[in-house]
Amino acid sequence: MANPKYACFEGEIVPFEDAKLSIVTPAVKYAAHVFEGLRGYWNADQEEMYVFRMAEHWERMRASMKVLRFDAEYTNDYLSECLFRLIQANELREDVHIRLSAFVGGEGEMNASGPTVMAITALPKGRMVKDTGGLHCCVSSWTRISDQTSPPRVKCAANYFNGRLAFMQANADGYDSTIILNAGGTVAEAPGACVYIVRDGVLATPAVTEGILESITRATVAQLFAEYFDLVTQERAIDRTELYSAEEMFLCGSGYQILPVISVDRLDVGAGEIGPLTSAMSEKYTSIARGDVPDHGEWRTPVYAAQAG
Ligand SMILES: Cc1ncc(COP(=O)(O)O)c(C=O)c1O
Repeated sequence: MANPKYACFEGEIVPFEDAKLSIVTPAVKYAAHVFEGLRGYWNADQEEMYVFRMAEHWERMRASMKVLRFDAEYTNDYLSECLFRLIQANELREDVHIRLSAFVGGEGEMNASGPTVMAITALPKGRMVKDTGGLHCCVSSWTRISDQTSPPRVKCAANYFNGRLAFMQANADGYDSTIILNAGGTVAEAPGACVYIVRDGVLATPAVTEGILESITRATVAQLFAEYFDLVTQERAIDRTELYSAEEMFLCGSGYQILPVISVDRLDVGAGEIGPLTSAMSEKYTSIARGDVPDHGEWRTPVYAAQAG
């Protein structure tokens, strides 16, 4: 699919091809780059684009930039206004995947903290992983990075080296995706998504100290399960073999949304098909994100109404 006409670069709407970084930037040389990935949902009935949990993404971006000592700080208003202008310039009226990046530009060395260069893209995009009715995953032989080495709660490009190793190995071995264990041997996350299981009817997801990105979708899902299904999510360490004995399992993330896992290491999860809680959550999540139901309006930012106002 062709790229949209424009990107946002340093706050300006520029032709997509002109949004470029030099090869001598610390962003390129040392992966000095933090980012956010979020979705805009097109609601055809309402002729509106809703950006899901935008403020939470802007806040996490600031947290990542702080840990990596970037020299700039962007306000919610500035980022939102840039994004709205970008969507309007591209006249986007379909689901989009939005990426906000902050790069260390200039020609500095490894310890450079600026100048920070900000860019936003909004690309029409479906799911980012093959979704053929449930994923076949393996447990990776790679180990998840840790807070002492390359903190997983910081959403920086460098951390995706670890996920890429695991993901590409899994693909080479014939799996759709993979579950990465932390140095303690318990479940961390998948490359680009968090993990949920259902065991004996109880929901569980690795705690935020298990080597995961503090996922906005993971928190959303726990809240929705509590509010709509009266189910509490345990946040705890999860053993590898619990994946084999779970009756349901799914991955979740802004990009992946709710993605069922139907086997791990060629062992069926439950009956080897998409489980009822997974399906129910998938429906609930997308109906709320798209604004098909009025619930949780505070999580949706309407782009075109914001522009009109
Ligand atoms: C490594 C990793 N874990 C988890 C997630 C899910 O996070 P969120 O729900 O905030 O998109 C992502 C998504 O970007 C990710 O890259």
